[in-house]
Amino acid sequence: MDKKVTVIGAGNVGATAAQRLAEKELCDVVLVDIVEGVPQGKALDLTQAAPIEKHDAKLTGTNAYEATAGSDIVIITAGIPRKPGMSRDDLLSTNAGIVKKVTREVAARSPEAVLIIVSNPLDAMCHVAYEASGFPKQRVMGMAGVLDSARFRAFIALELNVSVENTHAFVLGGHGDTMVPLPRFSTVAGIPLPELLPPERIEALVQRTRNGGAEIVSLLKTGSAYYAPASAAVEMAESILKDKKKILPCAAYLEGEYGIRDLFIGVPVKLGRGGIEQVIEIRLTDEESAALKKSAAAVQELKNALAQLNY
Ligand code: NAI
Ligand code: 2OP
Repeated sequence: MDKKVTVIGAGNVGATAAQRLAEKELCDVVLVDIVEGVPQGKALDLTQAAPIEKHDAKLTGTNAYEATAGSDIVIITAGIPRKPGMSRDDLLSTNAGIVKKVTREVAARSPEAVLIIVSNPLDAMCHVAYEASGFPKQRVMGMAGVLDSARFRAFIALELNVSVENTHAFVLGGHGDTMVPLPRFSTVAGIPLPELLPPERIEALVQRTRNGGAEIVSLLKTGSAYYAPASAAVEMAESILKDKKKILPCAAYLEGEYGIRDLFIGVPVKLGRGGIEQVIEIRLTDEESAALKKSAAAVQELKNALAQLNY
């Protein structure tokens, strides 16, 4: 393949993302993990599936960084996931150290890459990667809004018994309990959701979306969601690799847009070859705007906590 994507962390999200990237034949994939044998074993297993899945993507598993050189995109999933009773924010200190270290390694070898951060707490980890890489803001982004919107879409489709393909949804804000699903901009076959469902049903779907990650953690018990998160990260990567210019909700570094400054937070962006090519500003109602500000305040708190840590 003429494109290369490195996935750091060969755990649940990382390995599933590698599988989806290869099976869509988007690129060659380098899978890196700190645990000896795991990325090598998973890359070999995926390589052996290739004749059946009918793709020619080359998969490499490694504990070192040499093979990552010249990557077009690096997806960072390294870190620990949450367990029942933990919030994403409980992961701050451990994952900040991991994300800083791996970002330095990949940035040195792939200075032109676009970084897609997945590790939690997401918005804070974007800050860590942004600082550790020294990359321009257009080439550092976080995956959360695509996942949260997909959850909202799945719940809308289940509720109305319609194809998921007819659904569209927007979720803005930080990847946490303060995320901001926007029913007004969520549609089924172009029809706004408030035309199709009463307010109390919409509110129930919004709450289930906010709780989407925790609902899965409480079922799995030993980790968090990974099929949908991997799909979401790969949708972002595909838009960049193919220069599709899809508009997707991603964590982006804002410098005044939406009245928010010096903070990574989820907003609609245009994703193309250069990474974030545009932040799309939509006019929000006072209530939506207040919810986004509240979410930004929660992210700011995490950023402040990060500044107190020696990671
Ligand atoms: P996992 O535990 O299955 O995999 C994490 C992998 O990272 C492990 O294989 C571990 O060995 C590896 N790792 C740890 N330190 C490393 C280092 N220094 N270098 C390279 N690899 C290292 O966890 P999972 O489920 O894949 O989740 C990964 C992260 O993504 C978690 O922080 C989780 O909370 C987050 N996540 C974020 C989502 C989002 O919407 N942004 C959605 C799902 C997960
Ligand atoms: C999720 O939303 C854990 O952030 C992850 O599933």
